[in-house]
Amino acid sequence: MEVIIQPTAEAAVKLTARVLGDALRRNPEMVFGLATGATMESVYAELVRMHREEKLDFANAKTFNLDEYIGLPPEDKNSYRYYMDNHLFNHINIKKANTHLPDGMTNDIAGEGARYEAAIKAVGGIDLQLLGIGQDGHIGFNEPLSSLNSRTRDKSLTPLTLEQNGIYFDPPESMPRRAFTMGVGTILDARRIVMLVTGERKAQIIARAVEGPVSSMVTASAIQFHTNAVVILDEAAAGCLQGRDYYNWSFNNEPCWEPYR
Ligand code: GLP
Repeated sequence: MEVIIQPTAEAAVKLTARVLGDALRRNPEMVFGLATGATMESVYAELVRMHREEKLDFANAKTFNLDEYIGLPPEDKNSYRYYMDNHLFNHINIKKANTHLPDGMTNDIAGEGARYEAAIKAVGGIDLQLLGIGQDGHIGFNEPLSSLNSRTRDKSLTPLTLEQNGIYFDPPESMPRRAFTMGVGTILDARRIVMLVTGERKAQIIARAVEGPVSSMVTASAIQFHTNAVVILDEAAAGCLQGRDYYNWSFNNEPCWEPYR
């Protein structure tokens, strides 16, 4: 794992978008794993800008989102399908048929996970998975105690997640209590992982995920098992890390990061 600390959230977002954009330029048929949440809104805004101003071409790209609320139709403004259309897909030249999220309205809740896994497999797996982190250390909606081998399935959400994401719902209690999420094992199958975390409120949990023991209590810590993972932070989110000097030295000296310094 590598950790890159940028001076500001804006710089961390730009670096993240550039890593995704460069990957797409190298391989126009990229399969992206995508995330939602407030942090990612500015990443998608930057990708839209790169599409408009730098001709970043999504015509042959495919996407699979991490998760979706159970019971919200695509037109509900709190569904992740709505979020993705609104922040990204409607503003770039991706084919809608190539954008995938779990079906929050399916009648086959038990079968949806296997269907989603098969769809990912059918395109050859995910090349680059974008990740954020929840306040309780989740990736996707893999709440504490999720098996580190888990696959896509339905999952009940923790009180902390209901509190964190309930602010988007009116009333907050109308937030679904369950969601589909890729499993931790599904996420670890991606060929590359890029995690973006900004802001002081995430400083403690990201330190536990990056430097703490691997534990299903903090499912983000499972990315320590991944052989090609980078965590991009702003100064505020990096505040509790112990190994900052080494991470900074590494970013400033590793040849692969030269174009990004
Ligand atoms: C939701 C998503 C996660 C995301 C998290 C962070 O819970 N399921 O994938 O990492 O939000 O959200 P934010 O960026 O709003 O802090």
